Amino acid sequence: MHGMADKITIFGAGYVGLVSGACLAHSGHDVTLLETDEGKLDSLRRGVSPIFEPGAEDLIAEGVAAGRLRFLHPDEAGPLGGILVIAVGTPTTTTGAADLTAVRTVVDRIASAAEPGAIVAMKSTVPAGTGVRLAEKLRGYGCEYVSNPEFLREGSAVQDWYHTDRIVLGGTPVALERMKALYADIDAPVLTCDITSAEMIKYASNAFLATKISFINEIASICDFLGAQVDDVAAGIGMDARIGKDFLRAGIGWGGSCFPKDTRALDFIATINGYDFHLLRAVIEVNARQRVLPVRALKSELGELEGKRVAVLGLTFKPETDDTREAPALEIIPLLAAEGAEVVGYNPMTLGGDDYAGVRVCPTLDEAVACAEAVVITTEWPEIRDADWTALIATMAGRRLVYDGRNCLDPGRVRDAGGTYLGVGRPQ
Ligand code: UGA
Repeated sequence: MHGMADKITIFGAGYVGLVSGACLAHSGHDVTLLETDEGKLDSLRRGVSPIFEPGAEDLIAEGVAAGRLRFLHPDEAGPLGGILVIAVGTPTTTTGAADLTAVRTVVDRIASAAEPGAIVAMKSTVPAGTGVRLAEKLRGYGCEYVSNPEFLREGSAVQDWYHTDRIVLGGTPVALERMKALYADIDAPVLTCDITSAEMIKYASNAFLATKISFINEIASICDFLGAQVDDVAAGIGMDARIGKDFLRAGIGWGGSCFPKDTRALDFIATINGYDFHLLRAVIEVNARQRVLPVRALKSELGELEGKRVAVLGLTFKPETDDTREAPALEIIPLLAAEGAEVVGYNPMTLGGDDYAGVRVCPTLDEAVACAEAVVITTEWPEIRDADWTALIATMAGRRLVYDGRNCLDPGRVRDAGGTYLGVGRPQ
């Protein structure tokens, strides 16, 4: 610990709040996590993380044992001083705008209980322009406001916390100095700017990453026409340091709790300000189109899908998470079911319950794949990627079609085993 430590209170024990709290406690800070959901609170107090995030549960246990981390209902919190971190959800609404209900509730609570000199740090993703208004309001209660966007990825959030590319802090110089103490043990450049710029950095980062993915997905489609291999193309362009190799994996598109919501919200922000963000709109459209690819491919390879068994593998939006928000499988399964296919699902991590998007979830990969005429890989979980596909294909029926929506299998191996392989931008 460095210098005079501020105590930290975090509102919201979701992915961002919980990981931030666990990591800050691990770094020696005194952290109180406030959560309104009694079920989550109960689970946390028993030492069980309500979300699956590699490494988080150990850090929570360590923080609790050391007396540096505790979980309370906001009503139990008392006066709010030090650094108050807001990490509640900002889900999408039908217009695409972010729903700020939970943020407003927390801000009202802070206004009524804050000790003068408290700093309010916003980690929830709020529309650019929101922070300036909140800062104005909170200043009336003696609080300083800082925008501190989060760049953690689900599934590797704890790693990302300690190995981030940058820390972004938007606000007044005095408040920013106190915020820097939170990250004193992290070796990363700190970018300081005004509040609205910090908010834009968050949206622009996610929009740019989504753009990279949609871009490579467009290139993949053209590769399919031309007979080029998108993996090689991505590797080749990625070697140019100006482009960078990351987020160039072609497939059935991005999902999750962030890219879909944040791209829609940024598009909404543009629209409400009278600006048409053409490029972003195209990025979103391309992503929606990627979801249809496996269904079209199955129809063109197998003809009518009526009564044909199809196994959809990997039901979360990406590997190593239990999060199914905007998971590609959630959209692809209903499309296949609408074609009359007999769809079953499988996910390496149990998601609770045996029903997903209206179809049966099989307990094992073997059971899901057995007798299927086609499998669609929707998430590249290691268990799926590294399975014995020679053996699996032997249990399939008909054309034994493997639609690899994440380009994670070796096409040659599938074909040698008697399967029909289709990837995204990987023509034979
Ligand atoms: C994303 C950002 O990567 C984080 O920096 C950010 O903090 C977070 O959103 C957020 O705003 O909270 P996350 O959604 O957890 O993180 O997951 P990613 O690893 O970015 O993957 C997002 C989606 O893109 C997944 O569906 C993944 O399968 C897909 N993807 C990713 C591709 O299709 N191709 C790629 O090359 C990379």
